[in-house]
Amino acid sequence: MKPALIVHGGAWRIDESEHAAHLNGVRAAAQAAWEILQQGGIALDAVEKAIMVMEDDSTFDAGRGSVLTCVGEIEMDAMIMDGSNLRVGSVGAIQGIQNPIRLARLVMEETEHNFLVGSGARQFARMKGLRLAAQAELTVPREVERFRQYQISPPTPTVESFMAAHSGGTVGAVALDMDGNLAAGTSTGGTPYSLPGRVGDSPLVGCGTFADNETGAASATGHGERIMEVVLAKHATDLIRYGHNAQQAAKMSIEYLYKRVEGFGGLILIDKDSNVGFYHNTPHMAAAWIDDSGNLRTYIHP
Ligand code: GLY
Repeated sequence: MKPALIVHGGAWRIDESEHAAHLNGVRAAAQAAWEILQQGGIALDAVEKAIMVMEDDSTFDAGRGSVLTCVGEIEMDAMIMDGSNLRVGSVGAIQGIQNPIRLARLVMEETEHNFLVGSGARQFARMKGLRLAAQAELTVPREVERFRQYQISPPTPTVESFMAAHSGGTVGAVALDMDGNLAAGTSTGGTPYSLPGRVGDSPLVGCGTFADNETGAASATGHGERIMEVVLAKHATDLIRYGHNAQQAAKMSIEYLYKRVEGFGGLILIDKDSNVGFYHNTPHMAAAWIDDSGNLRTYIHP
């Protein structure tokens, strides 16, 4: 099977001054994951690697660089899914670790459960020997400044201000390996100034993330509350079942997101036939993928 790979680094209004950092970040993630696939590695390893590279890059709202809640703390969500057997690992509202996607994979592979949250998820991380990080280690000055601005003038729940509020974005990756197995993963610090305990679409099966060898695999980014209402990632892979390719399904799904709930965001997708697709209805979306000729391509706006 011809391997395939696409990654994203969020879909919002990305400030011009941050375009280069976003492009470098998604490029580095795609390069690292593509090496794994080219050497015959499995899709799950490629997805985990791509996401860890972006969690370690404070450009993005995931791992180090995550946004702060309205009480000034970082809470992160992540999920990984194996399309060969539909196994899922998720963590929600996790604090104090740098790589939530690693923990999500451990939930999938080393527990009887699919989803761990909060302090229990952190205890599991400690049990598994993952390095715990102090809040200060994960917090970057950009997010402290944003938090201070919101303390003075809290964000209003209009689409415009919500869109303007997001510069760093959720990260995600989708891969197909030489054995024809699909995997998808997503990791995020969520939305800025949210209530503590808020969990978004990213770690919810079929909402922000989905993978099924019979159809395709997808990772979403954008306004989590709206994305979960339309179960976006599963919606997209269902369209593949009905005969659409990855690009058609990505476009149709984002159009549906807006038409049904006036949602904004982006989606990356690989179908079972190795086609790669992505679409967004936000001003920007950072993405990198391998094209049909094996070249690494990057994108940030039309
Ligand atoms: N889409 C990421 C979030 O809303 O948390």
